[in-house]
Order: sequence, then C-alpha cells, then structure tokens
Amino acid sequence: MSQEKTRAYLGSFFHAPTYGEFEYLENVLIEVDGSGVITRVVTADDSAQQGIIQTHREAGTITELPEGCCGLPGFVDMHVHSCQWPQAALALDEPLYRWLQERTFPLESRFADIEFAHRVYSDLVQQLLARGTTTTVYLGSAHLEATLELARICADAGQRALVGKTVMDDPVANPDYYRDASPTKAIADTETLVREVDGMRPGVPQGVWPVVTPRFIPSCTDEVLFGLGKLAQKYGSYVQTHCNEGQWEHDTVLARCGKEDPYALRDYGLLGPRSIMAHCTFLTPEEGEMFAELGVAVVHCPMANSYFSSSVAPIRRFREQGIHVGIGTDISGGYSPSMYENIRQAVLCSRLLETGVDARRPEAERGYGEARLSILEAFYLATTGGAEALGLQTGAFLPGRAFDMQMVDVSRPYSDLTGFGVFDSPEDRLARILYLSTPDNVRKVYVQGRCVIDKDA
Ligand code: GUN
Ligand code: FE
Repeated sequence: MSQEKTRAYLGSFFHAPTYGEFEYLENVLIEVDGSGVITRVVTADDSAQQGIIQTHREAGTITELPEGCCGLPGFVDMHVHSCQWPQAALALDEPLYRWLQERTFPLESRFADIEFAHRVYSDLVQQLLARGTTTTVYLGSAHLEATLELARICADAGQRALVGKTVMDDPVANPDYYRDASPTKAIADTETLVREVDGMRPGVPQGVWPVVTPRFIPSCTDEVLFGLGKLAQKYGSYVQTHCNEGQWEHDTVLARCGKEDPYALRDYGLLGPRSIMAHCTFLTPEEGEMFAELGVAVVHCPMANSYFSSSVAPIRRFREQGIHVGIGTDISGGYSPSMYENIRQAVLCSRLLETGVDARRPEAERGYGEARLSILEAFYLATTGGAEALGLQTGAFLPGRAFDMQMVDVSRPYSDLTGFGVFDSPEDRLARILYLSTPDNVRKVYVQGRCVIDKDA
C-alpha cells in the first residue's frame, strides 16, 4: 500500500507557505518517508547535506531533478463538476439558469450510465493530474453509483480527492428525468456515499473523503437541506455547495427563504469548519465575519464568476476578514481544467474589480477600492490556501506535509520559460512559470510521494 523506503528529491523548488510571499528552495534535498510525508528539507548550506545525498545515492533512493527543471507544490482545485467535463468550453454565452436547464442537466443525466461515467471520469482525473492538480474537490452527478466510481478512479489514479454526490430533489426546480426521487432517497444515497467513501480511505494513501453536496438552495427542498445538515453533523463530513453565486441565485434564495444564502445555509445546519462555499460573490462583510467565525471556506472561481456571477468576488477583503480561501476551476462553468489559468484569471479579475471597468464613470467612483491580488497571492491560494481551507497537510514543502509536487521543465522546445537570461531572479522565474507555462511544461507529478504522471517515461 505505501512505499517502504524513505526517498529523497534533490533540486530547486518554489512554494508559498506564507500569504503574499514565496520561497525559493535552491538545491535542497527533500526527504520523504514511506508514507509520502516530508520529514525534512535539507538546505544547500547545511553541512550535513552532502552526506545525506551520498547515503541516498548509494541506496538508490534519490531522485535528482534534471537541469532546467524545478518543483512546485501540486495544486488544490476546490471545485470541479466532474460530470460537466464533456461540455467544458461550451454554451458559456447562456445565463446560469438556461445553461443548467438546457445543457447541463441533460449532460449530467447521462451519468446514470456507469460505463460512460467511467470513461469521462478516468480521462478527467488524468487531465487534472497532468496539469499539476494533486488534490480535487469534486461534485459528481446526482447518481450514487457513478459518484462512487469517481472516488474509486481517484483512489486508483493516486489523486487526493473529496467527492460528493450532487443532491437536487426539488420536483419544481429540476426536470423529472434528472433529480433525486425524494428527499428521503437523496439523504439515504448521501449517507451511503459517506459510509462507502469513509470505508475506502484506509486503503488509499493520499486520502479520499466524502462530501455532503446539496447543489444549491434553489434546486433542493427544505426537507433535504435540513436532512443533509444533520447528516453532515452526524459524520463530521465536508459540505460543499454554491453560495451567493450571482444575482439570479441571490434573489431566488432571498425571495424563498426571506434571508440571504449564507444565513439560510447556516440555519439548515450546513455551515461549519468543513464547509466549502463556491463563488460567494455577493458575500457581505457581516456574512464574511460569520464565515470567519465558523471556519467556513470560500472557493474563488474566477473564470466561472466571469460568466455567471454578474460580479467579481472581493477575495482580498475575504482574506482580510480571516476567511479561508482557495481556488476552483468550476469545470464547466469555467472552461479550463488548469489551475494555472485560474490563478491568472484571479489576478486579472481582481485588477478589474479594483479599478472598475466603465470609463464613462469618474475614476474615483469607478472601482471597488483596494482589491488586487498579486500573482504570489493567487499562487498561495491555489496551493497552501486550498490545503488549509480543507484542513489537509499539503500545499507546501514543509516537514509533516504530504509530498505533492509537480516538476516543471522551463526549457521545453515550444514553451521556453527561461527568458533569455534577462530578468532571472527567482521571483521573475516563478512569475514566468505561473503566467506562461503550458501543460507541456509539467513533466512529472507526485502525490503523497508517489509518481502518478511521468510524461517522459
Ligand atoms: N449553480 C448550481 N449548479 C451549478 C453548476 O453546475 N455550475 C455553476 N457554476 N453554478 C451552479
Ligand atoms: Fe460550480
């Protein structure tokens, strides 16, 4: 199940253990125990390093990163609709409600076919791993069997996964051909998922966890929402849903519940330190305070928000309020499976939020005020931030954390990131990787000390 031997990785690594900052670990040796956890990081100026390297060379337990390569932490993608992968990049000109009813529900309903689900999910997991995503929070379809299949695929492929069966039981809001048969059945299926996935975890070194996943308030009955809240509390499980996503959702929930999304979700019993709230573009400062107090995490989905949210989430404010924040691709509300693309978009959107976008308005009234995210802040959110939001020991090369690493080659033939030797500080090198790399630059990916992608093998 786990490797027996301690292994070592010798090379240069970038990571962001502190918000807004980065560290360049030049020519360090990272030692990883048999369970895939980092035991020590030995720097080049440590007099013991040469001896340790020698010992590992003799034992054949060292991996030396080739010339031109460096290591980055694997990404944590906090919001992926696995069953929307076949429509990534499609129909994004539609508003959310139509996009759901006309495109998304017909597609998701096909995951009743377990063979189809297996094909799609196997491909998606490989494509995410190949882009450096080592931990993913998935929303499956409304089908229990297909969602269990997704959990098994992640377990076998070596990806760390949090997996939820989407619950959508309201017969008024959902089509008859695609919804939970009843609140009771939805809750029972979710409980089965929780038990089965919890049962898998002891045999999965990188971990797999169940997630209680009401789609969002507008697609669920009160009965199911209260029931799922109870279930989450009973098992202490993760919860994921869409919260405060856009004007339509915001207004629909307010009209139905007489309160805003976050308060409604709290009162259904769905908010706690393992709750993951996607989007949150309309989150007020008071609601943000409540999230910070309860330890609720926000997933920033900058691409999907650009299509469906009618606003930009003020992530800088969320962080200042002490809310845990990670980043999600939101496939297929966002078209790209790449966390690199979403890091870039997080930065770009924050700049537009800060300055405002309508040049007809006076400059002083145009923008939100201080809202910008730096590329380093976005890098943090995609790695350490996501890990901390999920309470998982990963995201940075620190003792006690899982060794989740993507090896980036900056000198690929059609994707050279070396910058001709001009502007060659570590910060400039990291910025080039984050802004300009393509999937081809990511050559190897490790999760929990196990090599799960090797494009040069
Ligand atoms: N709100 C409810 N369902 C969805 C979904 O599938 N994608 C997005 N982006 N928002 C949603
Ligand atoms: Fe989503």
